[in-house]
Amino acid sequence: MKNSTDGWLNLPSLSLPLRTLFTGYLLVTGLGLMMAGVQILLTHGMADGKLGVSIDDIVYSYYGDRGNSRLEAKLNGSMKDKAPVEVRTQIIQWVQDGAPEQDWEPKVKGLFKQNCTQCHGNIPGLPDFNKLAAVKHVAEVDKGASVDSLTRVSHIHLFGIAFIFFFIGLIFSLSVGIKPWVKATIIFIPFIFLILDVFSWWLVKWYPNFAVLTIIGGFGYSVASGFMMLTSLYQMWIIPFKGESHNENTWKG
Ligand code: HEC
Repeated sequence: MKNSTDGWLNLPSLSLPLRTLFTGYLLVTGLGLMMAGVQILLTHGMADGKLGVSIDDIVYSYYGDRGNSRLEAKLNGSMKDKAPVEVRTQIIQWVQDGAPEQDWEPKVKGLFKQNCTQCHGNIPGLPDFNKLAAVKHVAEVDKGASVDSLTRVSHIHLFGIAFIFFFIGLIFSLSVGIKPWVKATIIFIPFIFLILDVFSWWLVKWYPNFAVLTIIGGFGYSVASGFMMLTSLYQMWIIPFKGESHNENTWKG
């Protein structure tokens, strides 16, 4: 198992305090990555109305559902039971005419007052449909993520996740029995796929066909970091107890 290039500091022979420190870190980040996965399933995963992340979800999230506004999508979706079909048809007709302002007061405002404003006007966090501006906002064609929000999410994602991969890679770099170039490649993969992932969001915003890159990116770094975490845990907690000594001053004595 031990390789001539494995240093004196390696996972199977770590002192108990370092071992618990690394293990605690790996358990918490592992849990965090799983939670991130669940959150992606529930937000982006539901963008096309079906559970599970698909190409459509990514296209809806970043490119948008062009040819449809959020208002129309909701009136045919989760808000369908909030108004009778004649009212919904009238609102949708108005939206498709470009939501003309001169029809707001005489025709449309009343429909919202009767069917929508008991919630959209009272529940904090929901757009206030007493105001034409709020209605216009959801009546616009859905263009997906804005450049503004993409810039914000991109830099948080890059900084935050680089930190996680740095420590996972650092711990894994102390593993034994893996050829240095293989180790180096595995450590490098998550960073490359992270860049690919973030880059793909921007591509999809303008070219929806690139959505497959987002899936490859996410899949690539999940597999590589999962492999590093499991290998590190195995080498810290299983190998030392199999009686194979990797160092004279191993903590077992
Ligand atoms: C009983 C309360 C209630 C009523 C009545 C209601 N809504 Fe909603 N609406 C919600 C809630 C809660 C949400 C957020 C959850 C969701 O998107 O399904 C929402 C979300 C929306 C959204 C998405 C808002 C956003 O910022 O993404 C639109 C558009 C919308 N409703 C339109 C309507 C219209 C049009 C009507 C009237 C025909 C209506 N709603 C009536 C509770 C209500």
